[in-house]
Amino acid sequence: MIQSLRGMNDILSEDYKRFTYFIDVATKVATRYGFHFIETPLLEETALFKRSVGESSDIVGKEMYQFIDKGDNDVCLRPEGTAGVVRAFIQKKLDRAGGVHRFFYHGAMFRYERPQKGRLRQFHQFGCESFGVDSVYEDASMIMMVSDILNELGIGYRLQLNSLGDNNCMPSYHENLVSFVQSSKEAICDDCVRRLAINPIRVLDCKNDRCQFIYKDAPKLIDNLCKDCDSDFEKLKNILDANGINYEVDTNLVRGLDYYSKTAFEFVSDNIGSQSAIAGGGRYDRLVEFLDGKATPAVGFAMGIERLMELIVMPEVKRDGYYIGAMDDEALELTLSLVHKKRKTDRVATDYKAKNFKNHMKNADKANAKYFCMIGSNEIKSGEIIIKDLEDKSETTVKIENF
Ligand code: HAM
Repeated sequence: MIQSLRGMNDILSEDYKRFTYFIDVATKVATRYGFHFIETPLLEETALFKRSVGESSDIVGKEMYQFIDKGDNDVCLRPEGTAGVVRAFIQKKLDRAGGVHRFFYHGAMFRYERPQKGRLRQFHQFGCESFGVDSVYEDASMIMMVSDILNELGIGYRLQLNSLGDNNCMPSYHENLVSFVQSSKEAICDDCVRRLAINPIRVLDCKNDRCQFIYKDAPKLIDNLCKDCDSDFEKLKNILDANGINYEVDTNLVRGLDYYSKTAFEFVSDNIGSQSAIAGGGRYDRLVEFLDGKATPAVGFAMGIERLMELIVMPEVKRDGYYIGAMDDEALELTLSLVHKKRKTDRVATDYKAKNFKNHMKNADKANAKYFCMIGSNEIKSGEIIIKDLEDKSETTVKIENF
């Protein structure tokens, strides 16, 4: 039997309810914050991700679903959503138009990682990207939006926060970090040697215990911020304090993608095991220009839908719609035409076989219908049907032509 590929899941039944409920809530919140839907292709040129997510990241270094297509193009299934949205933003000349542009998206992402609980090779993200606002208030607003979505879903979280500096303070910090790490170069892992050459702060994110032991005394980013970055970070913390959003400053939080500057954040859950990051994001003021657009400040985040599905507290499902069943074969045709008519306005469940009361009632319960009707020779003769309300148990008789 052919099975789905490792780390790639079907989403149906109860999972699908959670999935669509999440999308509904997140869409509602993003719309309240002034974001508009954007859909970008699943497949993009590989160069887009190499230049944006970055050569030093594990995503580009090890995890891309990359191949040469029939037209000899080097293409890649998107490992994340930001790069494609930035590409579309530039391609549609919105960078030249100026002003503020806010987008949200959801869809499948692909990373060739080692599958485990909470870590898939095809997973889904809900993300938001905001372009054109050079203010830490927008960073705070993005964090508040994630917090609102999680609160509406009944999901508890811890928020981790860091500042990665900008073009003023990042280069000198990199130099300090490189000279610190150089002194232990023989002891660090091969990945870190590579990271040191391409993007030194990446080493702080290394999962190797020996490397982490060495880096614990490394100079901290947060102590090396320039005046602007430092005051923005203070302001961000103050806004979050004033709005009752708790956070922890994590000076080693560098995120798994290379495009960030200044604000970086991650929302984690303590209830889903080791793959605990449920959302992540930050500011990426250099990326639009780096992808050949006009320099535009930007900030965004993405949430991992599969991880959140485990945590969502679903609202109580109320009965709704109709169940209409035929009691004998003679009534099947009329039943189906009433079902068809009613489906113009309501959810209607039925059965194409004539059944007795007990079996139809079982079906109606399974379908979670609020109203229940049965049609047989008596109803055809009298031209009337009884509508039973399965919640308050009341009954109403109506003429079939008025149903
Ligand atoms: P990210 O942190 O790589 O950021 O991914 C965001 C979220 O996607 C994670 O917090 C996690 O919940 C989920 N996720 C990541 N990898 C997997 C996986 N293999 N299986 C299941 N879930 C996963 C980004 O992708 C950035 N584009 C976020 C962003 C938007 N930054 C600025 N704008």
